[in-house]
Amino acid sequence: MKKKVLVTGGTGFIGSHTAVELIQSGYDVAIIDNLYNSEKSVLDGIKEITGTMPLFEEFDLCDQIQLHNFLKSHHVDAIIHFAAYKAVGESVKKPLDYYRNNLLSLINLLGAMDKYDVPSLVFSSSCTVYGQPDKLPVTEDCPVKPAISPYGNTKQIGEEIIEQTMKAKDGLKAVSLRYFNPIGAHPSALIGELPRGVPENLVPFITQTAIGLRDELKVFGSDYNTPDGSCIRDYLHVVDLAKAHVVAVRRLLEGLNKKNYEVFNLGTGNGVSVFEAIKSFEKVSGVKLRYNVVGRREGDIEKIWADPSLANSELGWKTESTLDQAMETAWRWEKRIRNK
Ligand code: UD1
Repeated sequence: MKKKVLVTGGTGFIGSHTAVELIQSGYDVAIIDNLYNSEKSVLDGIKEITGTMPLFEEFDLCDQIQLHNFLKSHHVDAIIHFAAYKAVGESVKKPLDYYRNNLLSLINLLGAMDKYDVPSLVFSSSCTVYGQPDKLPVTEDCPVKPAISPYGNTKQIGEEIIEQTMKAKDGLKAVSLRYFNPIGAHPSALIGELPRGVPENLVPFITQTAIGLRDELKVFGSDYNTPDGSCIRDYLHVVDLAKAHVVAVRRLLEGLNKKNYEVFNLGTGNGVSVFEAIKSFEKVSGVKLRYNVVGRREGDIEKIWADPSLANSELGWKTESTLDQAMETAWRWEKRIRNK
Protein backbone atom coordinates (compact mmCIF):
# COMPACT_ATOMS: atom_id res chain seq x y z
CA MET A 1 0.00 0.00 0.00
CA LYS A 2 1.32 3.40 -0.99
CA LYS A 3 1.68 5.90 1.84
CA LYS A 4 -0.32 9.07 1.39
CA VAL A 5 1.27 12.45 2.08
CA LEU A 6 -0.82 15.58 2.48
CA VAL A 7 1.00 18.59 1.03
CA THR A 8 -0.50 21.86 2.24
CA GLY A 9 0.35 24.71 -0.10
CA GLY A 10 1.05 22.06 -2.72
CA THR A 11 0.37 24.36 -5.67
CA GLY A 12 2.97 26.87 -4.46
CA PHE A 13 6.60 27.12 -5.53
CA ILE A 14 8.28 24.63 -3.21
CA GLY A 15 5.09 22.63 -2.60
CA SER A 16 4.54 21.82 -6.26
CA HIS A 17 8.14 20.66 -6.76
CA THR A 18 7.82 18.52 -3.63
CA ALA A 19 4.55 16.99 -4.86
CA VAL A 20 6.37 15.93 -8.04
CA GLU A 21 9.28 14.37 -6.15
CA LEU A 22 6.90 12.55 -3.78
CA ILE A 23 4.87 11.07 -6.63
CA GLN A 24 8.06 10.06 -8.44
CA SER A 25 9.24 8.37 -5.22
CA GLY A 26 6.10 6.24 -5.00
CA TYR A 27 3.89 8.25 -2.61
CA ASP A 28 0.26 9.17 -3.04
CA VAL A 29 -0.13 12.92 -2.79
CA ALA A 30 -3.09 14.98 -1.62
CA ILE A 31 -2.95 18.76 -1.87
CA ILE A 32 -4.82 21.38 0.11
CA ASP A 33 -4.32 24.95 -1.08
CA ASN A 34 -6.49 28.08 -0.96
CA LEU A 35 -4.85 29.37 -4.16
CA TYR A 36 -4.11 32.69 -2.45
CA ASN A 37 -0.65 32.78 -3.97
CA SER A 38 -0.82 30.12 -6.66
CA GLU A 39 -2.92 28.84 -9.53
CA LYS A 40 -4.91 25.68 -10.08
CA SER A 41 -3.16 25.16 -13.43
CA VAL A 42 -0.04 24.15 -11.45
CA LEU A 43 -1.82 20.80 -10.97
CA ASP A 44 -1.68 20.27 -14.74
CA GLY A 45 2.09 20.82 -14.61
CA ILE A 46 2.40 18.21 -11.86
CA LYS A 47 0.28 15.79 -13.89
CA GLU A 48 2.27 16.39 -17.07
CA ILE A 49 5.57 15.68 -15.30
CA THR A 50 4.47 12.67 -13.25
CA GLY A 51 1.51 11.23 -15.16
CA THR A 52 -0.56 11.51 -11.97
CA MET A 53 -3.08 14.14 -10.98
CA PRO A 54 -2.91 14.54 -7.21
CA LEU A 55 -6.07 14.72 -5.15
CA PHE A 56 -6.79 18.43 -4.66
CA GLU A 57 -9.08 20.39 -2.37
CA GLU A 58 -9.29 24.16 -2.36
CA PHE A 59 -9.79 25.61 1.09
CA ASP A 60 -8.11 27.64 3.79
CA LEU A 61 -6.43 25.76 6.66
CA CYS A 62 -7.65 28.47 9.03
CA ASP A 63 -11.05 26.84 8.48
CA GLN A 64 -10.86 24.10 11.07
CA ILE A 65 -14.15 22.47 10.09
CA GLN A 66 -13.08 21.97 6.47
CA LEU A 67 -9.76 20.56 7.62
CA HIS A 68 -11.46 18.08 9.96
CA ASN A 69 -13.91 17.08 7.24
CA PHE A 70 -10.99 16.48 4.91
CA LEU A 71 -9.14 14.26 7.37
CA LYS A 72 -12.36 12.44 8.27
CA SER A 73 -12.83 11.40 4.66
CA HIS A 74 -9.19 10.93 3.57
CA HIS A 75 -6.65 8.84 5.43
CA VAL A 76 -3.20 10.43 5.31
CA ASP A 77 0.04 9.06 6.76
CA ALA A 78 2.05 12.29 6.96
CA ILE A 79 1.78 16.01 6.33
CA ILE A 80 4.22 18.43 4.74
CA HIS A 81 3.10 21.93 5.67
CA PHE A 82 4.04 24.68 3.22
CA ALA A 83 0.85 26.75 3.20
CA ALA A 84 1.77 30.19 4.54
CA TYR A 85 2.17 33.83 3.57
CA LYS A 86 5.81 34.50 2.73
CA ALA A 87 6.40 38.09 1.62
CA VAL A 88 8.71 39.77 4.13
CA GLY A 89 7.80 43.35 3.12
CA GLU A 90 4.06 42.69 3.10
CA SER A 91 4.32 41.11 6.55
CA VAL A 92 5.67 44.37 7.96
CA LYS A 93 2.59 46.20 6.63
CA LYS A 94 0.07 43.52 7.58
CA PRO A 95 1.43 41.79 10.70
CA LEU A 96 -1.93 40.54 11.95
CA ASP A 97 -2.71 38.88 8.62
CA TYR A 98 0.61 37.06 8.86
CA TYR A 99 0.21 35.96 12.47
CA ARG A 100 -3.40 34.89 11.93
CA ASN A 101 -2.82 33.02 8.73
CA ASN A 102 0.55 31.37 9.40
CA LEU A 103 -0.06 30.46 13.04
CA LEU A 104 -3.75 29.60 13.03
CA SER A 105 -3.31 27.23 10.09
CA LEU A 106 -0.44 25.50 11.90
CA ILE A 107 -2.37 25.22 15.17
CA ASN A 108 -5.36 23.77 13.31
CA LEU A 109 -3.13 21.29 11.57
CA LEU A 110 -1.43 20.11 14.78
CA GLY A 111 -4.79 19.70 16.49
CA ALA A 112 -6.15 17.73 13.54
CA MET A 113 -3.06 15.48 13.43
CA ASP A 114 -3.67 14.52 17.02
CA LYS A 115 -7.38 13.96 16.51
CA TYR A 116 -7.17 11.97 13.26
CA ASP A 117 -4.02 9.99 14.05
CA VAL A 118 -1.62 11.51 11.56
CA PRO A 119 1.67 11.13 13.41
CA SER A 120 4.21 12.83 11.13
CA LEU A 121 4.78 16.46 10.17
CA VAL A 122 7.42 18.19 8.07
CA PHE A 123 7.41 21.96 8.58
CA SER A 124 8.63 24.56 6.15
CA SER A 125 10.91 26.85 8.13
CA SER A 126 13.58 29.33 7.14
CA CYS A 127 17.14 30.44 7.81
CA THR A 128 15.55 33.74 8.73
CA VAL A 129 15.31 32.35 12.30
CA TYR A 130 19.08 32.89 12.67
CA GLY A 131 19.04 36.63 11.89
CA GLN A 132 22.64 37.72 11.27
CA PRO A 133 24.52 34.80 12.82
CA ASP A 134 27.69 35.43 14.83
CA LYS A 135 29.40 32.44 13.26
CA LEU A 136 29.39 31.24 9.63
CA PRO A 137 28.51 28.79 8.24
CA VAL A 138 25.40 28.44 10.38
CA THR A 139 24.76 25.21 12.22
CA GLU A 140 21.38 24.22 13.67
CA ASP A 141 22.54 24.97 17.22
CA CYS A 142 23.27 28.63 16.44
CA PRO A 143 20.98 30.72 18.61
CA VAL A 144 17.69 31.88 17.14
CA LYS A 145 17.77 35.70 17.03
CA PRO A 146 14.83 38.08 17.48
CA ALA A 147 12.99 38.15 14.18
CA ILE A 148 13.22 41.29 12.05
CA SER A 149 9.88 40.82 10.28
CA PRO A 150 6.49 39.43 11.31
CA TYR A 151 6.98 36.82 8.58
CA GLY A 152 10.23 35.67 10.21
CA ASN A 153 8.56 35.70 13.58
CA THR A 154 5.81 33.37 12.35
CA LYS A 155 8.52 30.86 11.41
CA GLN A 156 10.19 31.16 14.84
CA ILE A 157 6.92 30.92 16.73
CA GLY A 158 5.80 28.12 14.41
CA GLU A 159 8.88 26.09 15.29
CA GLU A 160 8.27 26.69 19.01
CA ILE A 161 4.62 25.67 18.75
CA ILE A 162 5.65 22.45 17.02
CA GLU A 163 8.46 21.67 19.47
CA GLN A 164 6.19 22.15 22.49
CA THR A 165 3.38 20.14 20.90
CA MET A 166 5.78 17.28 20.16
CA LYS A 167 6.81 17.33 23.84
CA ALA A 168 3.23 17.25 25.01
CA LYS A 169 1.80 14.63 22.64
CA ASP A 170 3.18 11.13 22.61
CA GLY A 171 2.99 9.59 19.19
CA LEU A 172 3.44 12.81 17.21
CA LYS A 173 6.76 13.60 15.54
CA ALA A 174 8.00 16.46 13.43
CA VAL A 175 10.90 17.82 11.45
CA SER A 176 11.50 21.52 10.77
CA LEU A 177 13.48 22.23 7.63
CA ARG A 178 15.26 25.58 7.63
CA TYR A 179 15.64 26.59 4.01
CA PHE A 180 18.25 28.97 2.79
CA ASN A 181 17.36 30.64 -0.56
CA PRO A 182 15.44 28.35 -2.93
CA ILE A 183 15.67 29.31 -6.62
CA GLY A 184 15.19 27.75 -10.04
CA ALA A 185 12.41 25.66 -11.51
CA HIS A 186 11.69 22.12 -12.62
CA PRO A 187 13.97 21.25 -15.58
CA SER A 188 10.85 20.46 -17.65
CA ALA A 189 9.82 24.14 -17.24
CA LEU A 190 6.31 22.86 -16.49
CA ILE A 191 6.31 24.22 -12.93
CA GLY A 192 8.24 27.07 -11.32
CA GLU A 193 7.87 30.20 -9.26
CA LEU A 194 4.85 32.45 -9.92
CA PRO A 195 5.39 35.62 -7.88
CA ARG A 196 2.40 37.88 -7.33
CA GLY A 197 2.98 41.41 -8.65
CA VAL A 198 6.50 42.81 -8.37
CA PRO A 199 8.82 40.11 -7.01
CA GLU A 200 10.61 40.78 -3.72
CA ASN A 201 13.13 37.99 -4.25
CA LEU A 202 16.30 38.31 -6.28
CA VAL A 203 16.05 35.58 -8.90
CA PRO A 204 12.47 36.21 -10.11
CA PHE A 205 13.38 39.90 -10.29
CA ILE A 206 16.43 39.05 -12.40
CA THR A 207 14.49 36.84 -14.83
CA GLN A 208 11.61 39.35 -15.10
CA THR A 209 14.10 42.12 -15.85
CA ALA A 210 15.84 40.01 -18.47
CA ILE A 211 12.55 39.18 -20.19
CA GLY A 212 11.59 42.87 -20.29
CA LEU A 213 8.91 43.05 -17.58
CA ARG A 214 11.06 45.25 -15.29
CA ASP A 215 13.35 48.11 -16.32
CA GLU A 216 16.31 47.19 -14.19
CA LEU A 217 17.35 45.20 -11.15
CA LYS A 218 18.16 47.29 -8.12
CA VAL A 219 21.10 45.80 -6.24
CA PHE A 220 20.43 46.61 -2.62
CA GLY A 221 23.79 47.84 -1.37
CA SER A 222 27.44 47.37 -2.41
CA ASP A 223 28.99 48.66 0.80
CA TYR A 224 28.60 45.52 2.92
CA ASN A 225 31.56 43.90 4.61
CA THR A 226 31.83 41.18 1.93
CA PRO A 227 34.45 40.62 -0.81
CA ASP A 228 32.50 42.50 -3.51
CA GLY A 229 30.38 44.62 -1.17
CA SER A 230 27.01 42.93 -1.95
CA CYS A 231 25.07 40.62 0.38
CA ILE A 232 25.82 36.92 0.50
CA ARG A 233 23.23 34.13 0.52
CA ASP A 234 23.11 30.36 0.04
CA TYR A 235 21.01 29.73 -3.10
CA LEU A 236 19.80 26.17 -3.61
CA HIS A 237 17.92 24.56 -6.46
CA VAL A 238 14.24 24.04 -5.62
CA VAL A 239 14.36 20.45 -6.93
CA ASP A 240 17.17 19.64 -4.48
CA LEU A 241 15.09 21.24 -1.75
CA ALA A 242 12.02 19.24 -2.78
CA LYS A 243 14.03 16.01 -2.57
CA ALA A 244 14.99 16.83 1.02
CA HIS A 245 11.28 16.78 1.91
CA VAL A 246 10.90 13.28 0.52
CA VAL A 247 13.82 12.11 2.62
CA ALA A 248 12.52 13.87 5.73
CA VAL A 249 9.02 12.42 5.38
CA ARG A 250 10.42 8.94 4.77
CA ARG A 251 12.57 9.30 7.91
CA LEU A 252 9.43 9.93 9.96
CA LEU A 253 7.30 7.29 8.24
CA GLU A 254 9.98 4.63 8.72
CA GLY A 255 10.67 5.69 12.31
CA LEU A 256 14.30 6.56 11.57
CA ASN A 257 14.11 9.86 13.46
CA LYS A 258 16.34 10.12 16.54
CA LYS A 259 14.04 12.48 18.45
CA ASN A 260 10.39 13.31 18.01
CA TYR A 261 11.36 16.85 17.00
CA GLU A 262 14.34 17.47 14.75
CA VAL A 263 15.66 20.50 12.86
CA PHE A 264 17.80 20.54 9.72
CA ASN A 265 19.44 23.28 7.66
CA LEU A 266 18.92 22.92 3.94
CA GLY A 267 21.48 24.75 1.86
CA THR A 268 24.47 24.14 -0.36
CA GLY A 269 27.07 25.36 2.11
CA ASN A 270 28.30 27.99 -0.40
CA GLY A 271 27.89 31.71 0.01
CA VAL A 272 27.11 33.60 -3.21
CA SER A 273 27.00 37.39 -3.55
CA VAL A 274 24.35 39.33 -5.47
CA PHE A 275 26.96 40.25 -8.12
CA GLU A 276 27.99 36.59 -8.44
CA ALA A 277 24.33 35.61 -8.85
CA ILE A 278 23.96 38.20 -11.63
CA LYS A 279 27.12 36.91 -13.36
CA SER A 280 25.84 33.35 -13.22
CA PHE A 281 22.52 34.42 -14.74
CA GLU A 282 24.24 36.37 -17.52
CA LYS A 283 26.48 33.40 -18.31
CA VAL A 284 23.73 30.82 -18.63
CA SER A 285 21.18 33.07 -20.36
CA GLY A 286 23.51 35.02 -22.64
CA VAL A 287 21.52 38.12 -21.62
CA LYS A 288 23.27 41.26 -20.35
CA LEU A 289 21.23 42.26 -17.31
CA ARG A 290 20.37 45.90 -16.69
CA TYR A 291 21.09 46.69 -13.05
CA ASN A 292 21.97 49.55 -10.77
CA VAL A 293 23.34 49.66 -7.27
CA VAL A 294 21.02 51.46 -4.86
CA GLY A 295 20.91 51.81 -1.06
CA ARG A 296 20.61 48.90 1.34
CA ARG A 297 17.18 47.27 1.83
CA GLU A 298 15.92 47.58 5.37
CA GLY A 299 16.11 44.34 7.29
CA ASP A 300 18.61 42.65 4.97
CA ILE A 301 21.18 40.35 6.53
CA GLU A 302 24.77 41.00 5.37
CA LYS A 303 25.83 37.41 4.87
CA ILE A 304 24.52 33.97 5.65
CA TRP A 305 25.15 30.50 4.36
CA ALA A 306 24.42 27.05 5.71
CA ASP A 307 26.42 24.35 7.31
CA PRO A 308 24.39 21.49 5.83
CA SER A 309 26.48 18.70 7.39
CA LEU A 310 23.70 17.52 9.71
CA ALA A 311 21.32 17.06 6.77
CA ASN A 312 24.18 15.43 4.82
CA SER A 313 24.92 12.87 7.52
CA GLU A 314 21.50 12.30 9.10
CA LEU A 315 19.23 12.57 6.06
CA GLY A 316 21.80 11.41 3.53
CA TRP A 317 20.83 14.49 1.54
CA LYS A 318 22.94 17.04 -0.23
CA THR A 319 22.38 19.49 -3.05
CA GLU A 320 23.27 18.22 -6.50
CA SER A 321 22.68 21.21 -8.77
CA THR A 322 25.06 24.10 -9.28
CA LEU A 323 24.11 27.77 -9.14
CA ASP A 324 24.40 27.93 -12.94
CA GLN A 325 22.00 24.99 -13.36
CA ALA A 326 19.50 26.56 -11.01
CA MET A 327 19.71 29.90 -12.84
CA GLU A 328 19.33 28.16 -16.18
CA THR A 329 16.09 26.46 -15.09
CA ALA A 330 14.76 29.74 -13.65
CA TRP A 331 15.42 31.38 -17.01
CA ARG A 332 13.88 28.53 -19.02
CA TRP A 333 10.76 28.77 -16.85
CA GLU A 334 10.49 32.57 -17.23
CA LYS A 335 10.77 32.24 -21.02
CA ARG A 336 8.14 29.53 -21.10
CA ILE A 337 5.53 31.42 -19.08
CA ARG A 338 6.06 34.57 -21.18
CA ASN A 339 5.91 32.52 -24.42
CA LYS A 340 9.41 33.61 -25.47
C1 UD1 B 1 13.98 36.55 2.30
C2 UD1 B 1 13.77 36.18 3.74
C3 UD1 B 1 13.65 34.71 3.90
C4 UD1 B 1 12.54 34.18 3.01
C5 UD1 B 1 12.90 34.55 1.58
C6 UD1 B 1 11.86 34.03 0.64
C7 UD1 B 1 14.79 37.51 5.49
C8 UD1 B 1 16.05 37.93 6.16
N1 UD1 B 1 14.92 36.64 4.50
O1 UD1 B 1 15.27 36.10 1.95
O2 UD1 B 1 13.35 34.38 5.22
O3 UD1 B 1 12.43 32.81 3.18
O4 UD1 B 1 12.99 35.97 1.49
O5 UD1 B 1 10.72 34.79 0.60
O6 UD1 B 1 13.75 37.98 5.83
N2 UD1 B 1 18.24 41.65 -3.69
C9 UD1 B 1 18.59 42.72 -4.51
N3 UD1 B 1 17.62 43.24 -5.33
C10 UD1 B 1 16.35 42.74 -5.37
C11 UD1 B 1 16.01 41.65 -4.54
C12 UD1 B 1 16.99 41.14 -3.71
O7 UD1 B 1 19.72 43.18 -4.50
O8 UD1 B 1 15.52 43.27 -6.12
C13 UD1 B 1 19.25 41.06 -2.82
C14 UD1 B 1 18.92 41.18 -1.35
O9 UD1 B 1 19.44 42.36 -0.82
C15 UD1 B 1 19.60 39.92 -0.79
C16 UD1 B 1 19.55 38.92 -1.94
O10 UD1 B 1 19.32 39.69 -3.10
O11 UD1 B 1 20.93 40.20 -0.53
C17 UD1 B 1 18.46 37.89 -1.77
O12 UD1 B 1 17.24 38.55 -1.51
P1 UD1 B 1 15.84 37.76 -1.48
O13 UD1 B 1 15.73 36.91 -2.70
O14 UD1 B 1 14.78 38.77 -1.24
O15 UD1 B 1 15.98 36.76 -0.27
P2 UD1 B 1 16.32 37.03 1.26
O16 UD1 B 1 16.12 38.44 1.63
O17 UD1 B 1 17.64 36.41 1.53
